[in-house]
Amino acid sequence: MDVVFSGMRPTGRLHLGHMAGALSNWVKLQEDHECYFSIVDWHALMSDYADPSKLSLNTREVLLDWLAAGLDPQKCAIFAQSHVKQHTELHMALSMISPLGWLERCPTYKEQILNLRNKDLSTYGFLGYPVLMASDILVYKAVKVPVGEDQTAHLEISRELARRFNNFYGPVFPEPAITLTYNPKIPGTDGRKMSKSYGNSLDIADEIPVLGKKIRAMTTDPARERRTDPGDPDRCPVRDLHKFFNPDSEQMDEIASGCKTAAIGCVDCKKILIAHVTEYMTPIQERRKYFGGRGDELNGILADGAARARVTAERTMDEVYEALSMPKLK
Ligand code: TRP
Repeated sequence: MDVVFSGMRPTGRLHLGHMAGALSNWVKLQEDHECYFSIVDWHALMSDYADPSKLSLNTREVLLDWLAAGLDPQKCAIFAQSHVKQHTELHMALSMISPLGWLERCPTYKEQILNLRNKDLSTYGFLGYPVLMASDILVYKAVKVPVGEDQTAHLEISRELARRFNNFYGPVFPEPAITLTYNPKIPGTDGRKMSKSYGNSLDIADEIPVLGKKIRAMTTDPARERRTDPGDPDRCPVRDLHKFFNPDSEQMDEIASGCKTAAIGCVDCKKILIAHVTEYMTPIQERRKYFGGRGDELNGILADGAARARVTAERTMDEVYEALSMPKLK
């Protein structure tokens, strides 16, 4: 069975973009793969080191969103990165063979330093972001890593580090493949990419009435100023949400022609979308509520997940120490 690893940083509540892009794929993968899904708190600390006070609360929110979306702790290992110390051990080992040039040239590194002006990211830790990410993946010998396109540069470094380690010390790691997964376009309420930092997100934790309110306020095709103006569904962000949430293709066709001929208005179209979102999100929200009241159970899920992850990670580290001629104390 192929091993799968993926992770998310605990920066707060997740939105429907995370759900439709990453989580819906993970939920499928857990059925027929050995899956490790980690809330990567060390990675969050790399940029938020000045204020770690929200880490544990955010870890809990992410866990709730994952369980709500359908990750099943019986089918996959769900854990916090910091609970499995082998990630940091492998990070140390890989940092020895990580050429500075690879890290300095990484496009996300340059971009983040420029964009996150309010944080000082010129640290040793942040430069090593891709090294820790490689450790996350390689410590489980994962070969499938479902991530968005924005992570491809990091994954390329993971592959190169695996190859470099094997060249120096003998074959230990498989090269993880880049598994670009189905990633539907999920715009935010203003039509831009959905993102918490834009304030345009529909959150998994938003109650149904809140989702409805946000959708009613959503931008549509700018050409449809008045109810009688015909629109172009291809230029409407509401249409993109329909494509994910509306399973009725006949209805989709009707709405599209109604929009083009101004037979239906944006309000009508949104009403239909809200009905589909409600149907899709109701069981998800019920699961979120169920787990929300069970703090001990949540801690148990993380503890179990970490215990399972540790078994695999420890086995890999035995091989790593052996390859590095660092004997284990017996
Ligand atoms: N960097 C990833 C992100 O921001 C999160 C992450 C950390 C990750 N380690 C990983 C993803 C390992 C896949 C595999 O989305």
